[in-house]
Amino acid sequence: MWLWTVLVFFALPQVDGDVVVTPELEKRFPDNFSFGVSSSAYQIEGSWNVDGKGLSTWDFYLHKQPDIVEDCTNADVTTDSYRLFKRDIQMLKHLGVKSYRFSLSWTRILPDGTTNHINPRGIAHYRKFIDLLLENDILPFVTLYHWDLPIAFGKNGGWLNENTVDRFGDYARVAFSAFGDKVKNWITINEPFIHCLFSYELGLHPPLIKSPGKGFYECGRNLLLGHAKAYHIYDAEFRFQGGKVGLVVDAQWPIAASRSEEDAEAVKDYLAFYVGQYLDPVFKGDYPQRLTARVVATSTREGTEFRLRPFSEEEKKYIHGTYDFVGINHYNSVVVYRNESVNGMYEEPSFYDDVGIGTYMDDSWPASSFDSMRANAPGFYSLLLYLKDTYNNPVVFITENGFPLSSAEGLDDWKKVNYIRNYLDALMDARADGSNCQGYFFWSLMDSFEWTSGYGYKFGLYQVDFDDPDKKRTARKSALVYKEIIRTGTTDFNYNPDPYQYNGTVY
Ligand code: NOJ
Repeated sequence: MWLWTVLVFFALPQVDGDVVVTPELEKRFPDNFSFGVSSSAYQIEGSWNVDGKGLSTWDFYLHKQPDIVEDCTNADVTTDSYRLFKRDIQMLKHLGVKSYRFSLSWTRILPDGTTNHINPRGIAHYRKFIDLLLENDILPFVTLYHWDLPIAFGKNGGWLNENTVDRFGDYARVAFSAFGDKVKNWITINEPFIHCLFSYELGLHPPLIKSPGKGFYECGRNLLLGHAKAYHIYDAEFRFQGGKVGLVVDAQWPIAASRSEEDAEAVKDYLAFYVGQYLDPVFKGDYPQRLTARVVATSTREGTEFRLRPFSEEEKKYIHGTYDFVGINHYNSVVVYRNESVNGMYEEPSFYDDVGIGTYMDDSWPASSFDSMRANAPGFYSLLLYLKDTYNNPVVFITENGFPLSSAEGLDDWKKVNYIRNYLDALMDARADGSNCQGYFFWSLMDSFEWTSGYGYKFGLYQVDFDDPDKKRTARKSALVYKEIIRTGTTDFNYNPDPYQYNGTVY
């Protein structure tokens, strides 16, 4: 008899207070986990010349040279969110998100980029928007700079010019003072690596400056100084508002192509150039040694000047420790192998020549609609643990994660659903293993203007009909599933029966 009693006791679910804890229920996000979605000003606002807004580099160069963009489009109108912001908030409400990450358009607030003229209509718009978010219990996560630089600075070297650092500080101060009573989560700069690579190494994004192997590093350096400036301004003048300030870095996960020592080194180089270049100065006070050593080696080999300008001791101190959290944009993994360019494979000098690696996506990873993007959720887990171990377990927000589909996938976007589910499972596993990740923002709320790729990449939970003058938005299956994940705090439910059949909520 006693044996039965013992067996029955162990077979019963464990009772914790009045909550029955079964293994499935343990795998859930805590109530205070910050589920959200992300967007950025130029990609969704439209109204490029409305209410006193000045021109950004994107406005200017896409008007002047439309063929910079694959389909020769621009974001003059895009999803029309400047006008339709109330509808966007209804969608956020429908999803049940707790937070919304969006960016401010610098030239809506300061039309010529400087504090010579502060535009009251720009400020009023964002205040109205932020108020409405808060009334709906949605916390704003506000990015100050998501690539739309005031044109005057763009024509003057952009982020290669140190003057831009000071002007960014002025702009940050105006934003903190105009919105800081309501906004408690600030992001200074979005994705230094991608921004510097496309705008100042390759010259493919405005302001179209091609300065390989030099502009790329100089841009990153100035963005870090700009980030630190904004952080110190907040610290010195606005800390009483009780908010937090962080930088957003894009970080994909590198996996060695083989077991060779060479490829293991290539992975370390990837992390130093793509991630450590920005996070090490903030968390550790200087560039990774490996980054500096490789640029020294290639500069010497090429007989060129040393192109990675070191930080002075004062600058190191200024940047070190400027974080309350770190934002990470993560989309995919990459397979990495050693690929020295002594054979003249890359332009010299160039960032590619310096890092000396090749990358590709593994064919076995589930593909999005584009070859350039495949899903590998275990890499996300590895990245989160790497951040924990390398940077002393900081508070992390995943400020972007998403999977682009083409219009052919329509509303029944199963590939995106699977992606979200697998990536959130990986995130939960990383949390269980100690990652201090406190939030996740899906990219993106709705389809929008994907920079030089135009409108072909459908990242949205909501489909947008760009031909409709009203820019009708329709919930995809992924929106309904994400909503259910947020509601239940789990990914573990049956996705097939109603109500997850597409039911097309339209806005
Ligand atoms: C990175 C950028 O921050 C965002 O603007 C872009 O649309 C997404 N990733 C998708 O590529």
